[in-house]
Amino acid sequence: MEPHDFYEVLKTKALMMPGTVTRTGSVDAWCKYLKGYRYIIKDILEVGSFEGASAMFWLEFFPNAHLTCIDPFTGNPKEHTGNMFEPIFKDCETRFHMNMSPYKGRYTCYKTWSTTLLPLIMSQFGLIYIDGCHEEEIVKFDTEKCWDLCRVDGLLLWDDYDTEIYPGNKNKLRKTIDAFLKTKKDQYLEVFNSTQCLGIQKTK
Ligand SMILES: C[S@@+](CC[C@H](N)C(=O)[O-])C[C@H]1O[C@@H](n2cnc3c(N)ncnc32)[C@H](O)[C@@H]1O
Repeated sequence: MEPHDFYEVLKTKALMMPGTVTRTGSVDAWCKYLKGYRYIIKDILEVGSFEGASAMFWLEFFPNAHLTCIDPFTGNPKEHTGNMFEPIFKDCETRFHMNMSPYKGRYTCYKTWSTTLLPLIMSQFGLIYIDGCHEEEIVKFDTEKCWDLCRVDGLLLWDDYDTEIYPGNKNKLRKTIDAFLKTKKDQYLEVFNSTQCLGIQKTK
């Protein structure tokens, strides 16, 4: 599957707010670097699903996978405040379920916060994508929990790894994620770093 195949799916199947679709910096990297895992990945966890663009990508790209999504569908009150975000989040849960309707039976969605649900999950996953709250403390929490929930040989991906999260917002997640990875030296391999998204494989 090439990036343009996925954009065709979005164009024909999905209902998105203008300008909110998953950025090409991630889709290009995923198609290129995750190719070898395409038929192996069986279970995926996604923290932060919004309208479902990345969720759709996982289910299109990994035909044998089941996806678990976590999102309160409200945005983060500290991050997503003001007039700009109100229309974006107003109907995002409805859009998520519409966009995901072709994948019925292949996904489970929990409408809640990662901080509530992650500690309760008992199973492990072959791929985990973290794209929820961007506050440092929560990213740290999500990262620590998701490391434990990632199987050995599984993949762990962070969106917004080394980008300005919103224009003019210099808060990058890189420092927090790098500090965590420093504690896991020799327990992972970097699979790709597109600055937009970092992907590692847990090896121990
Ligand atoms: C950048 S959007 C996700 C975009 C989506 N992954 C995509 O690429 O199409 C971030 C989402 O994270 C959700 N979110 C914020 N804090 C969260 C938390 N603590 N746990 C789970 N989701 C959270 C927001 O409601 C929002 O829908």
